[in-house]
Amino acid sequence: MKPVKVGICGLGTVGGGTFNVLTENNHDIARRAGREIIIEQVGTRRPNPACDTSNTQVTDDIFAVAENPEIDILVELIGGYDVARELVLKAIENGKHVVTANKALIAVHGAEIFAAAKKAGVTVGYEAGVAGGIPVIKAIREGLAANHIERVAGIINGTGNFILTEMRDKGRDFDDVLQEAQALGYAEADPTFDVEGIDAAHKLTILSSIAYGIPLQFENCFTEGISKITRDDVQYAEELGYRIKHLGISARTSTGIDLRVHPTLVPLDNMIAKVDGVMNAVAVKGNAVNDTLFCGPGAGAGPTASAVVADIIDIAREISIEPLAFNSLEDVRVLPIEEVET
Ligand code: HSE
Repeated sequence: MKPVKVGICGLGTVGGGTFNVLTENNHDIARRAGREIIIEQVGTRRPNPACDTSNTQVTDDIFAVAENPEIDILVELIGGYDVARELVLKAIENGKHVVTANKALIAVHGAEIFAAAKKAGVTVGYEAGVAGGIPVIKAIREGLAANHIERVAGIINGTGNFILTEMRDKGRDFDDVLQEAQALGYAEADPTFDVEGIDAAHKLTILSSIAYGIPLQFENCFTEGISKITRDDVQYAEELGYRIKHLGISARTSTGIDLRVHPTLVPLDNMIAKVDGVMNAVAVKGNAVNDTLFCGPGAGAGPTASAVVADIIDIAREISIEPLAFNSLEDVRVLPIEEVET
């Protein structure tokens, strides 16, 4: 069977991680996908020293990747709203499937992108956009598909949780920890998205649209970050038996679905209080399953690449289901009855 050809746009933290996971795990990936997955081209203006691209076509024009007729799946890892939107729509127009880790793009332009993809008959995968390595989109969309979802709540920004944890455990300064989160590749290109709750609001918007079947409505999410939380706030909360966690919460109310993102006092004996560092945790309550909790690393190269590559594999499996091509009726061997029975 022909290999699936992938074009990666953006070779930063997540792009580099995706390049390396696809390269290093290529045997496992081929076995799981049912066919080989090849990185046909990379679009980036900046080489990533962590990636050996010596055997790969590299262009500094990301739109050349969207126009490359060899490419089956365009992987958008440049981030941001406008150029990413243009790139993804161009790829879709050219009949390519798309995988992205860009939650801002999906939360704000998702409706337009999904409509274009439906028209073109291609798939858009965005598992990596929410909660890094935790397959929470698949969990809600597939594993919990039988349920009437009542609530989705959790820690969905790794940078913020890392900052709050380090302030509490080591008494470190907010800005000092934020700088470390940036160096570790956890933070957004513009870290105000992390500390002002915008990144979490993008993610909650996406999760809620899947959980409740509602349109993406980022503009209706109440959004407050952790930038005003001090070390004293963190310590006082502990003394009172609570832990400050930055949560995204969506729930059904008598007037509709409530979407909100803000610092929250969580009782110390609640499982979410114990989720520290860059870890994320998403609690989903469904009417049949009751309470579930999904937990794992929420940011960084490896965890996010894990979700990006899983979406690539899903699409590769989908496009592997090709109708059998017979050249003529002579190609069809009809088994004699006795052969079938034995
Ligand atoms: N900046 C994001 C976070 C990256 O810290 O959670 C993963 O989406």
